[in-house]
Amino acid sequence: MATKGTWTPPDGTVSHGEALARHTTWAIGGPADFLVKAVSEQDVQSTLEFVRDEQLPLFILGAGSNVLFSDEGFRGVVLTLKKELAEFEFKGTRLITGAGASLPRVSSQAAKRGLSGLEFGIGIPGQVGGSLINNSGTRDDWMSRHVERIRICTPAGEIHELTNEEANFRYRGSDLVGNVVLRAEIPLEEAPEAQVKEKSQSYRRVRSETQPIGSRNAGCVFKNPEGTSAGKLIDELGLKDMRVGDAVVSPLHANFVINLGNATANDVLTLLKQIRQRAQEERGVNLEPEIFIVGTDSPTREGLE
Ligand code: EPU
Repeated sequence: MATKGTWTPPDGTVSHGEALARHTTWAIGGPADFLVKAVSEQDVQSTLEFVRDEQLPLFILGAGSNVLFSDEGFRGVVLTLKKELAEFEFKGTRLITGAGASLPRVSSQAAKRGLSGLEFGIGIPGQVGGSLINNSGTRDDWMSRHVERIRICTPAGEIHELTNEEANFRYRGSDLVGNVVLRAEIPLEEAPEAQVKEKSQSYRRVRSETQPIGSRNAGCVFKNPEGTSAGKLIDELGLKDMRVGDAVVSPLHANFVINLGNATANDVLTLLKQIRQRAQEERGVNLEPEIFIVGTDSPTREGLE
């Protein structure tokens, strides 16, 4: 484990050797050398300065729902956003939200106020920042259709306010990767409360009927390939219930991998590689991971080759 002095952020806290499994929805991941709980923009800037000075890899962790850490953990800094950076408020019909706020919570609070726009977020187990970086959403609605402004901190520690266009959103992706999203402004529309709530409920209902809610999973593991659903394709290949160790393809939705109890990152990776190989061999389809596969020393969204 790296022991780089006694650095701590000015307002937040840092822990050493904490298991990342405690911070991911798959409950998988070894120890992080540094796990930072940032509670102010100064903390974020200080963390980034430390990362630059010590040339450490950095991973920005939200709700832990779209990420596979290694069983050996992470030899760098894992940054999380708390308190002030996770608060949100409504100014009229406009939502101003810290990146660390839970998307389902923001979505349900908007619904309570009769504000429409983010109903789709009710069932997405992410934080606002991660949902923006990944342009999360459902089949028919997603973050980039709503967000107007995004406040970020660049790796150099500079704070910028970006417009929607500048974030260069695409299907399950954006140019925000590598920056720390701090805050977002999302204009919403007034609508009858019952109507907003009904829309939220229907998103929740569909999700609970078609996805393995309540299990240890990380959301969809592959992006949808052009023209089809990865889940449908994996299902057609007969791979539901396929298992490596304690990692299994969900029998309800084949684009979900469930940790039955003691799955390791290697179990999940082996399973993903096998699925990918079958899709390639039998359908000529290249399945791209939607999740971030984090290397021990590298924060990049790795492939499965
Ligand atoms: N299907 C199957 N078998 C399966 C899974 C799906 O036959 O195992 C069929 C369904 O019956 C349906 C079609 O495939 O006819 C599409 O399925 P679904 O509506 O579940 O949509 P999806 O394309 O598989 C996408 C998103 C989900 C999002 C849902 C609902 C991606 C990779 N997935 O799934 O997002 O919740 O639409 O809007 O874009 C995520 O990104 O993590 C995620 C779960």
